[in-house]
Amino acid sequence: MLIGTSWKMNHTRASAKAYVDRLAALCRDDPPNCTLFLCPPFTAIETVRTALDAHGLDILLGAQNCHAASEGAFTGEVSAAMVKEAGCTLVELGHSERRRDFCETDGVIAAKVKAVAAEGLRPLLCVGEDRSDRTAGAAIETVLRQAKRALHGLEGPALNGAIIAYEPVWAIGVDGTAATPNDIGGVVAALKAAFPLPVLYGGSVDDTNAAAFITDGGVDGLFVGRAALTADGLMGVARNALAAR
Ligand code: PGA
Repeated sequence: MLIGTSWKMNHTRASAKAYVDRLAALCRDDPPNCTLFLCPPFTAIETVRTALDAHGLDILLGAQNCHAASEGAFTGEVSAAMVKEAGCTLVELGHSERRRDFCETDGVIAAKVKAVAAEGLRPLLCVGEDRSDRTAGAAIETVLRQAKRALHGLEGPALNGAIIAYEPVWAIGVDGTAATPNDIGGVVAALKAAFPLPVLYGGSVDDTNAAAFITDGGVDGLFVGRAALTADGLMGVARNALAAR
C-alpha cells in the first residue's frame, strides 16, 4: 500500500525538518507496514532529503511539478533533472489545481510525464472529473481520457513505475465533499482495467474515512492533502488505512 501527501504551498524548510523529525519518532515507535511518500514544495526538498537520510527513513520523496524541458529559458520553472538532483524519485503531475490555476492541458501534462519517466523518476499522474462531468454521468469517460492522453506513447518499462492518483475535483480541498467508496469504485476499476498501474484515491481523505477507501474503493493507496499537513495527521491516515487490511 502506498500512502503519501503533497504539502502543496505549505511548510518552510524549518517546519519541514520538524515534520520529518516527528515522522521519524512515530515510525520508530510503530513502523507502518506500507510505503510512504512526501511531496514538499521545491524549497524544502533538499531539507526533507537530508532529514530522511539522517533518520534512515525509507520514505519516497517527490516534487509537486516540473517542466517538460530539460533546461532553458523558462523563468520560474525547474526540470526533472533538477528535482532528481535535489533528491526526488517521483514527481506529481497534472493536479487539478495546476490544470485549473496554471492552465495545464492534457498535452502539457503528457510532455511532463514523458520527461519525468525519461529522467528515471516515477510520474505520479493526477486525474479527476469535475462536478459537472460527474453529474452528467461522464466521470469514467473524463478520467480515462485524461489518463490516456497523459500516458500516450508510454508502455511497460517506459512508464517507469508510474502511479495514477484518482482525485475527483469536487472532492478536493476545504470546499470539497469527500467521495464515498461507492462514488469511486467504478472509476478505479476502469482505470485499473485500462492501465497496469497502481491507483490511489485523493480528495478530503482523513483518518476517519481512509479505511473505507481501501476496503471498499479498490484502491492501492491514498494521496492526502490537508489531513497530512502534520506528521501525526499522515500517520493517523496510514494507521487507519492499514487497520482495514
Ligand atoms: P485534500 O487534498 O486532501 O486537502 O482534499 C487532496 C489533494 O489535492 O490531493
